[in-house]
Amino acid sequence: MRVLVTGGAGFFGSHTVSVLLDAGHDVLVLDSLVSSTTVPLERVAELAGATFGGSRLRFHRADVREPTSYREAVVAFGPDAVVHFAGLKSPTESLADPAFYYTVNVAGTATVVQAAGAAGARAFLFSSSATVYGDEAPVPVGEDAAVAPVTPYGHSKLMAEQVLRHMHEAGRHMGVAVPRYFNPSGRSPRVVSGRIRRAFPPT
Ligand SMILES: NC(=O)c1ccc[n+]([C@@H]2O[C@H](COP(=O)([O-])OP(=O)(O)OC[C@H]3O[C@@H](n4cnc5c(N)ncnc54)[C@H](O)[C@@H]3O)[C@@H](O)[C@H]2O)c1
Repeated sequence: MRVLVTGGAGFFGSHTVSVLLDAGHDVLVLDSLVSSTTVPLERVAELAGATFGGSRLRFHRADVREPTSYREAVVAFGPDAVVHFAGLKSPTESLADPAFYYTVNVAGTATVVQAAGAAGARAFLFSSSATVYGDEAPVPVGEDAAVAPVTPYGHSKLMAEQVLRHMHEAGRHMGVAVPRYFNPSGRSPRVVSGRIRRAFPPT
């Protein structure tokens, strides 16, 4: 399968690319590198026996705030599936610059899903966040808990979900999945063999 991973140079993205390559998929990463570098992807390619920039792991620097060039890159690749991680993730920063968060996380998600539709992708996974539940949800928080985001970041995630819901209802050409996970923790199984230290060196 051909899989586009937006924000694929980031934390979740690079781990996901690693799993996708191991499963035999061909991957394109689109990332502006605003908060990452290509180093993790170069190591991930090495671990998978692939070449960074080769046919199994392509990379193109692209910003979700530039819809025309972004769409061109997506359509040229023609993904079967899209995993959308590109975005901003600091609740504190979002309080200081809400418009930045709405532009990247909401308008940016609209750009990505439109491009995915134009490219004929059949599956779309959006990395949402448990921040959509706010601070008052009873613990443990169930998926059906009421949403009550507190920060612009949380609101931007919920709004991006709505964009995807409405796009799906309008077209129904693409399956959409939206995990709302909490902060990740734990290690890749590769740590056991020590290989992950080469893939994701401390900075
Ligand atoms: N890390 C967490 O605890 C957590 C929890 C829940 C949800 N999420 C969500 O998962 C996603 C990925 O999180 P992460 O921890 O891997 O973050 P990350 O910052 O490591 O990765 C995000 C990637 O997106 C890229 N990016 C940012 N703005 C961009 C833009 N305008 N155009 C193109 N690329 C851009 C960055 O360069 C980076 O490589 C985010 O959307 C975040 O909101 C993260």
